[in-house]
Amino acid sequence: MHHFTSIAENAPDDLRHLLDVAGRLKAQYKTTGRNDPILAGKVLAMIFEKPSLRTRVSFNNAAVHLGGTGLLLRDEEVGLDSREPTKDVARVLSGMCDGIMARTFAHEKILTLRQWSTVPVINGLTDYSHPCQAMADLMTIREHFGSLEGKTVAFIGDGNNVARSLSVACGKFNMRFILASPPGYELPKEDVDRIMSQVPQMDFQLTADPADAARQADVLYTDTWVSMGQEAEKARRLKDFAGFQIDQKMLSAAPQQAVVLHCLPAYRGLEISDEVMEDPRSLIFPQAENRLHFQKGLLAVLMGGQ
Ligand code: CP
Ligand code: NVA
Repeated sequence: MHHFTSIAENAPDDLRHLLDVAGRLKAQYKTTGRNDPILAGKVLAMIFEKPSLRTRVSFNNAAVHLGGTGLLLRDEEVGLDSREPTKDVARVLSGMCDGIMARTFAHEKILTLRQWSTVPVINGLTDYSHPCQAMADLMTIREHFGSLEGKTVAFIGDGNNVARSLSVACGKFNMRFILASPPGYELPKEDVDRIMSQVPQMDFQLTADPADAARQADVLYTDTWVSMGQEAEKARRLKDFAGFQIDQKMLSAAPQQAVVLHCLPAYRGLEISDEVMEDPRSLIFPQAENRLHFQKGLLAVLMGGQ
């Protein structure tokens, strides 16, 4: 594995290896309070065109815990395709850093970085996908249930970047994925077709009935109804998503063993109720912490030869 820009580009065994390395580094950190300095002297450049809490802190601290450094580059300073071409940024950073993590609006910029960089490029979220989030989510599900195969993830909400990556990740591990969205907010047909061609064995269902999805769930998942960059559509989206909140009623429709995940940031009272956020069946904060542990596994594999 040289880059990590999508779930689809990776074989299940490679994804499993990432989860295993991440799990090992997490156990080491939890028992000893430290990790081996496998990234000593290495620098991860971190470019952000959009805001972030979890992605920024988890990549920075993963690099630091492994003996390296995270270097924050705000897009105001870098100017991908405004101050200089993305392909030039890729080549300059390749000469000075050991890895590039970027969060961009346009997915094409990640692909351009990947094409021109000689060091690993990591997708830290684009309008199209969020593969690191999906892997931390699988890590959380595997820790809780002990395995992934056969589990059902019911994603209640927008067919967005998070849903897209998570659906492919579920397919790679023989999990079922149900997307319950209002009409017009499903994953586009060409995406579903592409996912089905990438993981043909996948059990992928689309429905407009969130309660039906909840009844089948081992994991109830949601994300904001208004992603970064969609602020102008907020009023319309809040109206269209009425009835899709994960609240106590929806949670009680789910089987007893079901747990709740949310990638965060959460908008309490919209896609999820305050009560469900705080419910004992919510694994949302361990899930957020796993962003750190998964990033460690990813950096250890891409930049540390693990
Ligand atoms: N879940 C997630 O990526 O959070 P941030 O936007 O805060 O990085
Ligand atoms: N779908 C959300 C995820 C935030 C982590 C967004 O793109 O804003």
